[in-house]
Amino acid sequence: MVEHSNRVRKPRRKNLEQQRREAAMRRRQEEERQEREIQQARRENQLNIRNSGQLIKNHYNKITRESRNVVREQLSTFKLRNYNNAIKYMLFGRFIKAGDRVLDIGCGKGGDLFKYNKCKISELLGIDISDYSIKEAFSRYTGMRYRSFCATFVTANPFKTKIPDILEGIGHIPNQIQFPMDAVSMQFCLHYAFESEEQIRMMLENVSKSLKVGGYFFGTIPSSDFIIQKIQVTRKNNEARKQKLEEERMQKQSLEEQNSSNTGGDREETKEKEQGQGQGKGKGKEQDDVENDDPFAPPKEEETTVNSIKEAETFDDEEIKWGNSIYSVTFPKVPNEECDFSPPWGNVYYFYLKDSVENAPEFVVPFESFRAIAEEYRLELRYKKTFAELFKEEIPEWFNNFSPKMLEGLKRSDGKYGISGEEAEVADFYLAFAFERI
Ligand SMILES: C[S@@+](CC[C@H](N)C(=O)[O-])C[C@H]1O[C@@H](n2cnc3c(N)ncnc32)[C@H](O)[C@@H]1O
Repeated sequence: MVEHSNRVRKPRRKNLEQQRREAAMRRRQEEERQEREIQQARRENQLNIRNSGQLIKNHYNKITRESRNVVREQLSTFKLRNYNNAIKYMLFGRFIKAGDRVLDIGCGKGGDLFKYNKCKISELLGIDISDYSIKEAFSRYTGMRYRSFCATFVTANPFKTKIPDILEGIGHIPNQIQFPMDAVSMQFCLHYAFESEEQIRMMLENVSKSLKVGGYFFGTIPSSDFIIQKIQVTRKNNEARKQKLEEERMQKQSLEEQNSSNTGGDREETKEKEQGQGQGKGKGKEQDDVENDDPFAPPKEEETTVNSIKEAETFDDEEIKWGNSIYSVTFPKVPNEECDFSPPWGNVYYFYLKDSVENAPEFVVPFESFRAIAEEYRLELRYKKTFAELFKEEIPEWFNNFSPKMLEGLKRSDGKYGISGEEAEVADFYLAFAFERI
């Protein structure tokens, strides 16, 4: 018997080991396949984004995989992340009450679970297109020592599928998750729906049908006011730059024309000129040496022209781009003069945020159009504030509520609270909104 079980056990252990190795290999292959897909999709979608869902899913799967070994406090964008978290705490505090049932669309890897605990909600339904993020959210939830709520996490695309169909697809038993919800939260996610009118409408239908009358739909999105202002400034700068480059090109052309007419002229004259130039060169060299000693000397005329030519070769006035060392926004197509974003969907730009988003396609949310379409779904705008406005208004109440670690992270170099420098510009990119279901 013992012998028998031994004989049986040995190959089983071997099998398990082999199974683990095979599973790890499959995971690696899957990760490599997804990486290839991201690169391929990025190349293909450079100018023409259609159906970006798969691309976005792959992107967030990749981020979730990579973030597992990251120490948040060591990231150069740590202060910005901390600030965004503070903003979300404030927003949740305003629009969620104890005992609420909440639907979180684009819940990601569960970064808001502690906020839900703090609000003492009773139930959470988290939906995200990224299966990796959903797995991570679930494991974070089960790893929480204290939980005020029960939670269900589902991988799905609620911009394309009705929520009842999503739940039916996972074998959900009616009444297991109680509808209507008291609140719907969409943090840093809604702009992905603005790829097309169908997706916006499906998203709003899902929100509206999930919410009770009097419930709130709230979230954070890129501010179209900020985007328009930045486009206008960038466009002006681009025009000035283009004009300067054109002037330099003309100057260079006329110099070349002058030179070529000289070459065809009197030999003696040319000789004299060459000698003169030779002398000049010698003189110039001495001057160069003197100039090179001066660390504040402006670049030589010649170098400036070469640089400008190089710049002219790479300068693309078909593109609008701005940013700083931690973020950048690139519009592959220049929006029209009025920046009216008409139609209000499909206005793609690429967003880069250090340690986080690698030039992923996102879509402008022209706020007034968003408000108007939302009204059709019985959602009435009650709140719209930039992050800076929200923070200033709410921070006095939160001093005693935030942990010392959170408060420390919110301290600026001048001793005040908030965010400053390059990170402040990224924070200014966003606004917070809330609609009431009527
Ligand atoms: C910037 S993350 C924000 C995550 C989370 N809400 C937070 O604030 O930490 C955006 C999330 O939106 C999700 N997302 C994008 N498109 C989606 C879609 N069509 N349906 C569901 N989730 C989507 C992404 O997978 C990602 O997890």
